[in-house]
Amino acid sequence: MIIRSVIAGCGAYLPERVLTNQELAGTVDTTDEWIVKRTGIRQRHIAAKGELTSDLALEAGRAALADAGIAPEEIDIIVLATATPDETFPATATTVQHAIGMKGGAAFDVQAVCSGFVYALNVADNFIRLGQARTALVIGAETFSRILDWSDRTTCVLFGDGAGAVVLRAEEGEGTNADRGILANKIHSDGQYHDLLYVDGGPSSTGAVGHLKMAGKEVFKHAVTNLADVVDEVLLGSGVSADEVDWLVPHQANMRILKSTAARLGVPLEKVVVTVDRHANTSAASIPLAIAEAHGDGRLRQGQLVVLEAMGGGFTWGASLIRW
Ligand code: ACO
Repeated sequence: MIIRSVIAGCGAYLPERVLTNQELAGTVDTTDEWIVKRTGIRQRHIAAKGELTSDLALEAGRAALADAGIAPEEIDIIVLATATPDETFPATATTVQHAIGMKGGAAFDVQAVCSGFVYALNVADNFIRLGQARTALVIGAETFSRILDWSDRTTCVLFGDGAGAVVLRAEEGEGTNADRGILANKIHSDGQYHDLLYVDGGPSSTGAVGHLKMAGKEVFKHAVTNLADVVDEVLLGSGVSADEVDWLVPHQANMRILKSTAARLGVPLEKVVVTVDRHANTSAASIPLAIAEAHGDGRLRQGQLVVLEAMGGGFTWGASLIRW
């Protein structure tokens, strides 16, 4: 018998305000046609003035707890993935901990930009498998609209705001791939690629928040290779072949990256959960938002094999294999 982290519930939150490509084309030199053709994005959600990352995270976290039928007092840890915290410190997770009514336990943030949710899931899974927690709330929440240069058409069209969350619960498994829960995780980083995707500010460098900078073409090339490689690594390590996978839930950066990665893995597009057209890239929130959507509409069903994969600034990248 071993301990597995089983997904007991999912939740999501998107800010009310929708910003379409057409609207953006009124403020920067771009077109709906260019954005759709190069990225697949049609719209994104933007947090209201005064609406913070913790507010988004709280809504998603509450929805996940309700879906799991779990009370806040039962949570042992909150692991919140974000690159856009409310403040330099304390961790946004502690704000959520207080607001959600969690008593005791621990709450902290994980920073791995767009790979943040896969990192956070890996961290929470390790806590559960070591017996240090029985119930974990894992959240990805971002307000990327606050770190974009809205006059830079090469980046501002790509991102949006949102939050998604899952509840993990410890359950006994046999130690085989037939178990429900997280079967494998793999995370990587390589700091030599810092300059290809970063924010030019921070408390210890400029003292200001800064704006997102990206060498899009270079990021694109690395993304397809790294994502396919890390999924292969997780599948091979678990003795699972790509055709056994029921659903691929990728980080939603760009439809062309999603398609190229799925093609390299030999996973047909019908098995890929896609939200990038409506959410754009919400960084650490994109995978849990996609999970919540596919769970909510009945696509993700108990017993299915689900693969998550993400890549982001750092570079960071990773993948998880889950039996739903
Ligand atoms: N509207 C109109 N034209 C634009 C826009 C825009 N919004 N942005 C750039 N262009 C122009 C460029 O100026 C360029 O013009 P030029 O040929 O006159 O110089 C032309 O379009 C082509 O630009 P490229 O950068 O070569 O376009 P590309 O096909 O590479 O697409 C894109 C750019 C969409 C950013 C792509 O490289 C990409 O998606 N990269 C991945 C980046 C990403 O998703 N990062 C997210 C974080 S990391 C991750 O999540 C994986």
